[in-house]
Amino acid sequence: MSPRRVSHPTRIGIIGLGMYVPPKVLTNHDLEKMVDTTDEWIQTRTGIRERHVADPGMTTSDLATKAAQQALKQAKLDPKDLDLLIVATATPDMLFPSTSCLVQQRLGATSAVCFDLSAACSGSMFAMITAQQYLLSGRYRNALVVGAEVLSGFIDWTDRSTCVLFGDGAGACVMAPVTRGGILATDMGSDGSAADLLCMPGGGSKHPPSHRSVDQRLHFLRMSGGEIFKLAVRRMADSATQVMKKAKLKPEHIGCFIPHQANIRIIEALAKWAKLPLEKMYMNLQRYGNTSAASNLIALYEAVQEGVITRGDHVVMVAFGAGLTWGSILLQW
Ligand code: UT7
Repeated sequence: MSPRRVSHPTRIGIIGLGMYVPPKVLTNHDLEKMVDTTDEWIQTRTGIRERHVADPGMTTSDLATKAAQQALKQAKLDPKDLDLLIVATATPDMLFPSTSCLVQQRLGATSAVCFDLSAACSGSMFAMITAQQYLLSGRYRNALVVGAEVLSGFIDWTDRSTCVLFGDGAGACVMAPVTRGGILATDMGSDGSAADLLCMPGGGSKHPPSHRSVDQRLHFLRMSGGEIFKLAVRRMADSATQVMKKAKLKPEHIGCFIPHQANIRIIEALAKWAKLPLEKMYMNLQRYGNTSAASNLIALYEAVQEGVITRGDHVVMVAFGAGLTWGSILLQW
């Protein structure tokens, strides 16, 4: 038997949270000077006012390490005692090695098993559910999940339909067995038939980097915004409904919803479609834009910091992203 193996716990919870965004802020007014857009259009169509962007040379592992350090500190966990480290990202430092190995080295988490997880904006949900399964099996005693992105390096800053939407950042959580509260229900789904609606075609085996791939701007994010909008609403509504059903809870029992922070209109439509109270939908996308895999964890961190979520509250986290992918977690704080 592995020395790390522990008896099968029944409930896994979050014992520490952290977040980090780069200091540089890009406002809608700054974007007005870069593309044919207005602060008014961006605010009314998305709800976003500003986003943080990394300075040149600042990497996803830089952001991830800072968020992770804070989460480990809050959990009072020595990095050397960490068993599992998963980084969810669509913007790794390099294709390989994994960003998680780079974060491990920076943290000094020498005993941790490390891998990256690719599920775009649903990344932190997928990574938390994956970590939960390892912890429930008793294979590992604790896990650190980080959702981190430097999307600004993959955005076409001449394309007004995408460049106004995204931001850089990292969110982190330490997970471990708990005796009260914790994760009560989860849901995940994928649909590869719509993979082309949101993608970055260049840089992988399909279009390895070449003069041609750069000339054709294949290394930038591409999105069919309208179609993604509708699918995001439907899939997140179904997924959030599923976890409440599994946990035998109704929307009125939920203290706070943490939806993926892509667009205020998506969140409003989600609330309407799934009959969820809009006033319980936590939103901080005004300040960060869509930070993809970091989005739900940054929102959870701030909701807890602001006292919007307090001990004993039921919380539903729900995300949607490229793949397509979607997922939800219902937990008791
Ligand atoms: O995390 C998951 C990934 N992403 C998302 O969830 C995003 C999903 N999609 C969306 O949030 C929305 O579809 C957008 C914000 C991207 C677009 O909003 P929309 O209400 O669907 O606008 P639209 O694409 O229908 O465009 C309406 C008009 C167009 O002009 P015409 O063709 O009507 O003359 C666009 O060219 O708005 C124009 N437009 C802009 N105008 C000013 C598009 N982007 C901009 C812009 N500034 N930045």
